Amino acid sequence: MSPAIAKPLLSDLVAQSPQVPLSHVRPVGDRPDLVNVDHDSGSGIPLIDLKQLDGPDRRKVVEAIGSACETDGFFMVRNHGIPEAVVEGMLRVSREFFHLPESERLKCYSDDPKKAIRLSTSFNVRTEKVSNWRDFLRLHCFPLENFVDQWPSNPASFRQVVSTYSTEARVLALRLLEAISESLGLERGHMVAAMGRQAQHMAVNYYPPCPQPELTYGLPGHKDPNAVTLLLQDGVSGLQVQRNGRWVAVNPVPDALVINIGDQIQALSNDRYKSVLHRVIVNSESERISVPTFYCPSPDAVIEPADALVDGDHRLAYRPFTYQAYYDEFWNMGLQSASCLDRFRPIDQRAD
Ligand code: OGA
Ligand code: NI
Repeated sequence: MSPAIAKPLLSDLVAQSPQVPLSHVRPVGDRPDLVNVDHDSGSGIPLIDLKQLDGPDRRKVVEAIGSACETDGFFMVRNHGIPEAVVEGMLRVSREFFHLPESERLKCYSDDPKKAIRLSTSFNVRTEKVSNWRDFLRLHCFPLENFVDQWPSNPASFRQVVSTYSTEARVLALRLLEAISESLGLERGHMVAAMGRQAQHMAVNYYPPCPQPELTYGLPGHKDPNAVTLLLQDGVSGLQVQRNGRWVAVNPVPDALVINIGDQIQALSNDRYKSVLHRVIVNSESERISVPTFYCPSPDAVIEPADALVDGDHRLAYRPFTYQAYYDEFWNMGLQSASCLDRFRPIDQRAD
C-alpha cells in the first residue's frame, strides 16, 4: 500500500504550525459557538444502570432506555458488561497507534471511503472544502475473521486487544437492540432481524490539541447513519449533543459508555426514536481519543418502519430503502445538519 496523499495527516500539520492552517479554518458564521453550551451535569443526558437488564427489574431498565431514545436520542450506560481492563486496553492501543511515527501510520492511509480498513483525516477529504481537526482509523469488525488480518499489526497487541473489545461491544449492541425492540412493544429480536446479516464498524478518533479551537471542529454537527453507536471516550470532554436547540456537553463519566440512536433506528421505529445532532469540539490543552462502534444493517437489508408502529395516528414516515443506498447518500452529502433521512420519506412528505 503506497498511499497517494491528498492531504497530510493532521498530526503532521500540528507539528508544523502554531496556528490552525487555513485548510482547517471554518468560514465566519460556520464556527463553533463555544460560549452558549450547557456544561452543568444536571442538563446532561440520562445515565442508565444496566445491572438489572437481565434480572427481575428488566422492564424498568427497558422503559428507561425507551424514554431516553424518545426524548434525547442519547444516553450513557454503566454496568454495561464490558470489563474495565478491556476498555482500558482499547484506549491504550488507540493512543499507542496514534503515537507511532507518521511513516508507520501512513502504511494504513487511504482517502477512499469504501475501504474496509483505513487511516484518514477529517471526514471525507475528497469532497469537503474545510477539513476537521481529526485523524481517524476505521476498521470493519464483523465478522471478525474476515477483517482482522487487514488491521494494523503495530502496536504488536493491536489486533488481539481490539478483537476482544469489538467482540464485547457486539454483545452489548445486541443486548441494547433487544431492549430497544422491547421498549417499542416489538418482539425482542425485531431490530436485529430487520438488520439482516449486520455489520460492525469502528472508528478510532484522534483529536490532537488545537491552538485555536474557536476556528474549527473535531467533527461538525451530524447524525450517525447507522443503527446504534456505542461510544468509548477517554477522560477528555469534546462531545456535545443538541437538545431543545441548545448544545449540551456530554462530559466523560468514569466506566460509562455513551449510546446513541442512529438514523436506521429512527427509520425502523417510524420516527418514535430520534437520531440526534451531535458534534465534537477540540481544545488547546489535551489530545482526545474516542472509539465509536457503529452497529449497522447489512448493505442489502431493506429498512422500513415496523408495521406495528404505523397506524391512523402515525403515518408511514419512510419508503423502503436498502442500507447501501442510504450509506452512499450519506457519504455523498458529507457531514451536515440536514438529515439524510429526509431523502427517504414518501414523496408527499419530503421537505425539499
Ligand atoms: C462520530 C462521532 C464523537 C466523538 O465519530 O460519529 O460522533 O466523541 N464521534 O468522537
Ligand atoms: Ni457521530
